Amino acid sequence: MTENLLREEIAELGKSLYDRGLAHGSAGNISVKLADGNWLLTPTNSCLGRLDPAKISKLDGNGKLINGDPPSKEAFLHLAMYQERAKSTAVVHLHSLHAVAVSCLAEIDAGDVFPPITAYAIMQVGKLALVPYYPPGDQSLADAVRKLAGKHHAVLLANHGPVVAGTSLTAAVNAIEELEQTAQLMLLLQGRPTRFLTAGQVAELNQRFPS
Ligand code: 13P
Repeated sequence: MTENLLREEIAELGKSLYDRGLAHGSAGNISVKLADGNWLLTPTNSCLGRLDPAKISKLDGNGKLINGDPPSKEAFLHLAMYQERAKSTAVVHLHSLHAVAVSCLAEIDAGDVFPPITAYAIMQVGKLALVPYYPPGDQSLADAVRKLAGKHHAVLLANHGPVVAGTSLTAAVNAIEELEQTAQLMLLLQGRPTRFLTAGQVAELNQRFPS
């Protein structure tokens, strides 16, 4: 896809997320890697529902701004994902309601936040890792994500929100939507006797649908 089409796709999917309440205000950011190693990132303080494709920031492989508006303060975090995941070409970060709620729970397994609720959560989100809390845009936050990114394409920033990498922007958006839905299911089911998938069922899914 050409750079211009990718710019339009970022704006289109940003609006779709915003229109369905998965993004609000100026929260969240989206990036896409270009074939030449440069990458596109939504500008800082922009609303994902009202992006101007022409103003989206373009950065080089070291995160230096080439053109467009000043980039998201989470540029380091997106870069850490790309540097640790060679096949990833898109990263989406949201402050979606239910995922943020789960990111604030006191007793969760930091290595595997979700219980095995549905097949699609296993297939699209996999083992969701919890990243300790650091302020938005902090280099320590990017460093903490870097440590986990090799093994996890989806991570949950404590008291903040999810970050998902994908092999295309559509794949990353689909996966972060699945993550949000799974977070909502987890909260809905809390305190209720639940039939989770068995370890054998999870292993079979991982074999049939390798990520
Ligand atoms: P930016 O507006 O700088 O992209 O930051 C928004 C955000 O989601 C911070 O985590």
